[in-house]
This record gives sequence, C-alpha cells and structure tokens, in this order.
Amino acid sequence: MSHTLRVLSGIQPSGRLHLGNYFGMMKSMIEWQEKSDLFCFIVNLHALTSVFNPELLARNTLEAATDFLALGLDPERSTFWVQGDVWQHAELAWLLHNITSMGLLERCHAYKEKLAKGLVPNHGLFAYPVLMAADIILYQADLVPVGRDQKQHVEVARDIASSFNHTYGETFVLPEPLIDNYLATIPGLDGQKMSKSYNNTIDIFIDQAELKRRVMAIVTDTRGVNEIKDPDSCNLYALYRLFATPDRVVEMRERYLKPGLKYVDVKKELIELIWIYFAPHREKRAELVKDVAGIYDILKTGAAKARAVAEITMAEARCKVGLRY
Ligand code: ADP
Ligand code: TRP
Repeated sequence: MSHTLRVLSGIQPSGRLHLGNYFGMMKSMIEWQEKSDLFCFIVNLHALTSVFNPELLARNTLEAATDFLALGLDPERSTFWVQGDVWQHAELAWLLHNITSMGLLERCHAYKEKLAKGLVPNHGLFAYPVLMAADIILYQADLVPVGRDQKQHVEVARDIASSFNHTYGETFVLPEPLIDNYLATIPGLDGQKMSKSYNNTIDIFIDQAELKRRVMAIVTDTRGVNEIKDPDSCNLYALYRLFATPDRVVEMRERYLKPGLKYVDVKKELIELIWIYFAPHREKRAELVKDVAGIYDILKTGAAKARAVAEITMAEARCKVGLRY
C-alpha cells in the first residue's frame, strides 16, 4: 500500500490574516486537502511568545480558525485544530529541548530579526523553533508548506528530528519545507514583504472602502503616463498577477511595455479583482459567524482527531527516552 503524503502547516493567530498569509501558505494548504492527508492548525502556543493580552489572543485564535474555514478548509477532509488543545505539542517540545544545541537556535534568522525589531527576547521566543519542530514531527509530516521566511525553521525541525533519531533510534520522519518559488514573498503596499509588523498589508476580509484606500496607497515608481514601465520591478504588477487570469496578465504586461499606462487604472482593476476573488469566501464567513458554537465544535472534534495521532507518536517517544519504567 502506498503511503499517503502527510502535509502539515500552522499559522499564528496574531492579527488579521492578509494576502501574504493567503498566497504564501493558506491557499496551498487548502489545495493540499484534495491530494494529501492534511494537518492544519492555529498556533496559539507560539503566539504566547509575543501576545500578552489574553482576550486578544483568544479572539484572534477564533478569527484565524474562522478565516481558514471560510477560505475553504474542510474539517471533514483534513485535521484542523488549535495547537494549545493538544498538550502533546508542549510535551514533545520538552523532550526535543534536551537534544537541541544552543548554536542551532542562535543561528535562526527569525529570532535575530525579532530582536532587531526590538522584541524583548524571552526564552519562549528563543525556543520557538523547538516547539515548531515538535508540531511537525509529532504528526510524522512529510511536507510543510510555508512562506520563504519559515524555510529555515523547517530545516531546523529536520535537524532536531534527525538528532533525536540518532540519539534514541529511528522514531521520526524527516520533514521537508515546501515553498512555491513563484509565490515565495508577496510584497506589501511599500514593496517590502507584506507583514502585519510592517503595517503594509491588505487583509483578506477587508471592507470595500478600506480595500480601495489600501490599493490606492500601493507605492509605484514616478514614471509618467507616456513612459515605458517595468512590470518585473513593480509591486502593483506583482499583486495584480495573483488575481488576474493568465490572459489578462499577458495583456497587462504588454500595457506596461508601451506608453499610455496609468498606474491608477491598474489599481482600479486590482480593487475589482480582489473584491470579486474573495466574494464567495466573505459569504461563507458571514454564515460561519452566525454559529460560533459550531466553530468551537469543529475545533473540538479536530483536536480529538489530532490528539489520537499525536498520542501514538508520544507513546513511542516517551519509551525511547526512558520515561516509561
Ligand atoms: P506576518 O509576517 O504578517 O507576521 P506570519 O509570520 O504570521 O505573518 O506568517 C504566517 C504564514 O504566512 C507563514 O507561513 C509565512 O511564511 C506566510 N507569509 C506571511 N507573509 C508572507 C508574505 N508576504 N509572502 C509570503 N508568505 C507570507
Ligand atoms: N512559525 C510559523 C509562522 O510564524 C508558524 C508555525 C508554528 C508552523 N508551527 C508550525 C508552520 C509548524 C508550519 C509547521 O508562520
């Protein structure tokens, strides 16, 4: 019997989800449910490293789960849960801490960047990749779809799994990051990586007036109407490409390469395209929020499914390290 590919990824509930999250990770996760054994979860334990407002964390967790469901994640076809509802994540993380060298964590770019941004370096933030490794290998995942910024963390998970296997004997599958190069970094309004920490996002479930304001604020170069423009260095074009049909993208490219194009016209088209693209998901979301108890039920059932798989791995891992006597 051939092994069904196990695909797993998680997202932090640390704010409203944006186009970078959608195209960098959520969209591909939703597509994977058609062709793999999909595990998808909201990482509220990771969010504890930087969110210290309990009401906000609780609200964002529910919002992120609702967004995923509205965008097409099907809890019948996949395992969908909230990380903190499955205690085995934290339990396995503790086992992994002891076989993870300080040097491996000191080399992590995400940690260094967070320090550079002025975040107070608590121990959770430093140990973040160990919990992420636990998340992944607890479910013996083969592939982990993430944006480029998370590639190193998946490689660290692989190193930690390999170090466990080396110390205690073959236990964990070694995971691989899966990065779509075409989508690897979605630019924000200012051309930097779209990120909630740069305040340059377009949120997925934005209202129409705000969508207009945001798209109109996309930074373009100063070339005038009659100058030829460069689609490849234009972040407006990079966003346009995500929403337009291939034919329209080709046509737009030609318009860039001839005099006469006004950026404001591209922006107007983009507003329309984004609005239409998410229309069915907005409707689905409006339905979902009418029954919040139903969302909690979905997450509870998902956690039970995840726990059953996690416990099989943990029973073995506990034995391997000598916690069973
Ligand atoms: P943010 O940078 O807004 O804090 P997160 O770090 O919470 O976003 O990212 C959640 C997921 O979305 C990760 O898999 C990440 O790689 C992906 N992602 C976030 N922003 C982008 C982007 N601009 N382009 C591509 N992927 C992204
Ligand atoms: N660190 C990831 C991020 O910030 C979120 C995450 C936590 C994750 N655990 C994971 C992603 C396991 C993939 C697999 O985006």
